[in-house]
Amino acid sequence: MPITETAALTLDLTYVRSQFPSLGQTINGHPAAFLDGPGGTQVPQRVIDAISAYLSHDNANTGGAYQTSRHSDAMIVRARGAMADFLHCGADEVIFGPNMTTLTFSISRAIGRELKPGDEILVTRLDHDANVSPWTTMAEDRGITVRWADINNGDCTLDMADLASKINKNTKVVAVGYASNGVGTINPVQEIVRLAHHVGALAYIDAVHYAPHGLIDVAALDCDFLACSTYKFFGPHMGVLYGKREHLQRFRPYKVRPNTNAIPNCWEWGTLNHECIAGIEACVEYIADIGRRSRASLDGPFDSAPGRQARGLSPERERETRRKDIEGAYAAIHEHERALLETMMGGLKTIPGLKIYGISDPARFNDRCPTFAVRIEGHSPLELATKLGERGIFTWDGNYYALNLTERLDVEKCGGFLRIGLAHYNTADEVGRLLAALQEIVRA
Ligand SMILES: Cc1ncc(COP(=O)(O)O)c(C=O)c1O
Repeated sequence: MPITETAALTLDLTYVRSQFPSLGQTINGHPAAFLDGPGGTQVPQRVIDAISAYLSHDNANTGGAYQTSRHSDAMIVRARGAMADFLHCGADEVIFGPNMTTLTFSISRAIGRELKPGDEILVTRLDHDANVSPWTTMAEDRGITVRWADINNGDCTLDMADLASKINKNTKVVAVGYASNGVGTINPVQEIVRLAHHVGALAYIDAVHYAPHGLIDVAALDCDFLACSTYKFFGPHMGVLYGKREHLQRFRPYKVRPNTNAIPNCWEWGTLNHECIAGIEACVEYIADIGRRSRASLDGPFDSAPGRQARGLSPERERETRRKDIEGAYAAIHEHERALLETMMGGLKTIPGLKIYGISDPARFNDRCPTFAVRIEGHSPLELATKLGERGIFTWDGNYYALNLTERLDVEKCGGFLRIGLAHYNTADEVGRLLAALQEIVRA
């Protein structure tokens, strides 16, 4: 599903940047430019404060008969509610875990328990390996056939005809990314979910790369599972998994005996990272606040959290309102990122010897994120990333675990790509600095 364009909402970039203390750093006298968002985004002050406040005041294990434990229980309930609003699902369909990879290994094992030789699963060459190896290793254990959906090399999109041809009545799981962390392509996930369901297969969506750029709506997607990582969208280092209630109830998790059999907790292993979960609620509130502020620029005064509390909204109404705020945030983020994407793409095309991997046609920008994979003749990605790093510009080099993609495009043997990843806190000035630095490096 491409990023949709809704009513133009304006991002208050000054407010946004003021929220992130790390953006104020300098490197060798240069302001730090964080163009490394796909590897992990920066964190607003309120997330740092929430983590610190939890450890200062409420640090305890869950389920105890005393105050800090009760506060911990209540905080986890609130954080689950926040993620449910973020994903558009029920709070009991939200599972917390250390990261997306661990959650995917866990759920793939529970699904694998029910599969038998002759069954098939489908993975893609575009995906991050966290949505590939958990499935292929499970398939190896269970004697299941793995089918691979290929890509169109020219624009690094999924070859949908190939994908459709590999889904059949034996297919039990279709594992696909929402967006590629390698080259930025947004996949037609709604269509893929439909193809999977047509043969009774489960659709498992990796939304890690998509989440900082586009609104996730699991209800509209009708996917069976969707995984993301809060550290990619301004939160702490944690993973979150959505699972349809009926699946979470029916599949059997591997678990310890004393743990509850009730969802969602039966899917969570051991003691969770409570301080990070406290940060997750703050992270979702940060995103919702962007929507509130953006909407205020159209509709009038900013609807602050204390203001809403004073109005005494019911919890249901409060959650509906927060979901609307999150939708507004992504509309504003989309507008801002689109402008940066256009400037970046235009500038990259003028750099001698530079090759862009992925969609470069502005008419198709709705099908990509502002994540750019490039190579420059005569310069290795590592050399470019190092020289940019010395100028305070943070990018990434290599395969960033999209290993099947770098192998498919035959760049694995020569250092992969230089990845430039924009987030909503980046500025046109930072894009200009990156482009000028690349021009300087190639001319040196
Ligand atoms: C698209 C994508 N999927 C999955 C992952 C793995 O996420 P985690 O680090 O939470 O396991 C990443 C991390 O870079 C990613 O970019």
